[in-house]
Amino acid sequence: MKIILLGPPGAGKGTQAKLISQKYSIPHISTGDIFRKNISEQTPLGIKAKSYMDKGQLVPDELTIDIVNDRLANDDCKKGFLLDGFPRTVKQAEALDKFLDSKDSKIDNALLIEVPREFILERMTGRRVCKDCGASYHIKFNPPKIEGKCDLCCGKIIQRKDDTEETVKERLDVYSKQTAPLIQYYKNKDSLCVIDGTSEINEVFQKVCNILGSDK
Ligand code: AP5
Ligand code: MG
Ligand code: ZN
Repeated sequence: MKIILLGPPGAGKGTQAKLISQKYSIPHISTGDIFRKNISEQTPLGIKAKSYMDKGQLVPDELTIDIVNDRLANDDCKKGFLLDGFPRTVKQAEALDKFLDSKDSKIDNALLIEVPREFILERMTGRRVCKDCGASYHIKFNPPKIEGKCDLCCGKIIQRKDDTEETVKERLDVYSKQTAPLIQYYKNKDSLCVIDGTSEINEVFQKVCNILGSDK
């Protein structure tokens, strides 16, 4: 099962990705999480990525594509994977297709989680994330069981630096200009499925499962 999650910032991609990856036993690959890990470890990649992420802009394709290709070459991706936040430009989508073509493979589903702009600010400003595994929480909609601690790995829960109102607005603009064209790209390939992301988390997950079915 090879799946892509598309949708604006705050649509719930990361939240659904954790649930999908558990249910279908496929690795959850989030380029945002990979960059944030590199930032916290102050690697050369992290230092470069940080300047773009703090402004809400995309990290250049040259830096992003290689990381994903390397990650997809790992053994754990052989039976499938879930990409969250990649591809984000047509160039990245073409690079992914080229990589999969070379393995005689292709994407099964591109799931677009649709959430209108007016929901997004409240979701983002109330979001908290696990510093260690990247799991998303929300102070109102999805608080962790123990305050300040991740349900999945007991990691510390923090607020993302790019979750300010100003940066979220920039990220939404970047999404409309650079990522939204991928909707047509995957429609043309007959792999797009649109999911209404405005209902509560488990209801959205139910809709995802209805599309993906029960097979592993
Ligand atoms: P990334 O980390 O991918 O951020 P994003 O796309 O902006 O998306 P988010 O993580 O903000 O939102 P999400 O859809 O995962 O929502 P979540 O589940 O957390 O990227 C960050 C940056 O890295 C980019 O700006 C860019 O600079 C760089 N980058 C990453 N990938 C790149 C690439 N491929 N190319 C170039 N640059 C790249 O949910 C949000 C909140 O809502 C949470 O609080 C959650 O609890 C809550 N929530 C979720 N679902 C529901 C629901 N159904 N009802 C109520 N609340 C909900
Ligand atoms: Mg996310
Ligand atoms: Zn965690």
